Amino acid sequence: MALWDGRFSAGPAQDMVNFSECLGVDMRMWRQDIEGSRAHATMLATVGLITTEDLATLLAGLDTVAAELEDGRYVPGPETEDIHMAVESRLIALVGDVGARLHTARSRNDQVATDVRLWMRDALNTLAEAQMDLVRALVERVEEDGDVLMPGFTHLQRGQPIFLGHHLLAYAWMVKRDVERTQDVLKRLDACPLGAGAMAGTPHPIDREQTARLLNFSAPVPNAMDAVSARDHLCEATAACAIAMSHLSRQSEELVIWSSQEFRYIRLGDAYATGSSIMPQKRNPDAAELVRGKSGRVFGSLTALLTMVKGLPLAYNRDLQEDKAALFDAIDTTLACTRITAGVWRTLSVHRDRYEDVLRGDFLLATELADHLVTQGVPFRTAHHVSGRIVAYCEAQGIGFDALTLADLRTFHDGFADDALTWLDPRSAADRRTSLGGTAMSQVSAQVSALHAWLGTSSD
Ligand code: ARG
Repeated sequence: MALWDGRFSAGPAQDMVNFSECLGVDMRMWRQDIEGSRAHATMLATVGLITTEDLATLLAGLDTVAAELEDGRYVPGPETEDIHMAVESRLIALVGDVGARLHTARSRNDQVATDVRLWMRDALNTLAEAQMDLVRALVERVEEDGDVLMPGFTHLQRGQPIFLGHHLLAYAWMVKRDVERTQDVLKRLDACPLGAGAMAGTPHPIDREQTARLLNFSAPVPNAMDAVSARDHLCEATAACAIAMSHLSRQSEELVIWSSQEFRYIRLGDAYATGSSIMPQKRNPDAAELVRGKSGRVFGSLTALLTMVKGLPLAYNRDLQEDKAALFDAIDTTLACTRITAGVWRTLSVHRDRYEDVLRGDFLLATELADHLVTQGVPFRTAHHVSGRIVAYCEAQGIGFDALTLADLRTFHDGFADDALTWLDPRSAADRRTSLGGTAMSQVSAQVSALHAWLGTSSD
């Protein structure tokens, strides 16, 4: 017996029941469903659509349903179809006819839209907190190892010497924007669909403002059809997750590369490294690889949602039942990956001296020679060409920059000043880049302070 079976003479086939039900997915919204029902019942009583005795019966009944769902005494079966009918049919079983009054001026279409918004509000706040904690983890790592020298890459080729702090802060800023993107969704989420009915509103004198207030929304959704049909907030949340996952995946890729023996820049902490069942020496970056791999799932969810809505005529269509699986998986996955990534950054150790000597004499200092000549009044393009010729010369000789004397430099250009060779120290090269946002430690510290201010923490 379904709550909607009045016009049917035979029940659905069992495989249709199994195909149609979605309790496996929406069961996790039962608290939101009860909360919405409480608000709706309260509003019905306020406007006189039910008596205050009815309201008391409904609220007590809903409390019992909640308690039964909480401790597992009530486990709805597939015939109840979804969490909305599971709650309502149990309520009717518990309190009788009064329970049947709850659905006045309400439809599952506005119910599900409301439940999802309530669920998203909590979930997105939790996600934003986790993302903030990842920013914190990155900042902590910068404070610990920010002064460690490394090659900055373009095309994964050595480009210019930089500090690790500079590199990690790039991620910290990206993740900060992820936090903001997540919080942004909350703004557009902040309107209450309940009372929209199936799509057209209701002839009953309901007070949607009150329902919205009771559920802590700023206002009702102004259009009943939009209220039950809109899924752009789900697309937006999942898009925010997808972008965040792309950032986590990039970090993961670097963690994998940096922990390889070829790079040997970091060592993952035991807590987030894994072994091999056959190769005893292995210390694998599985955490980072899983995050990188799971990014595809979240991108898939975004594609699923956009594809789902793009051809739907207004208003509600059952296709929309599929939205929750995609949304939940996107948020669950992004939350888990965000937390794991913070754990990885917090527990790894940096091989602090890895590049200190390696970069001495390296051609990644070629820009330094050019910049030195610029300080002596040489146009940059000319200086670039001179430096390039010096690189070609060294390559032909099989030597690095560290083998060059001042006299050697001057055979390429007489603009090299007496202190030219000091420009070839990689650490001072990095620390000379004091322009705003540059890699110099003064700039790294300024950004750490700015992020502390945003996080509401203090640097010591
Ligand atoms: N279970 C449905 C969903 O998740 C909500 C109910 C609306 N169903 C309906 N046949 N009008 O979207």
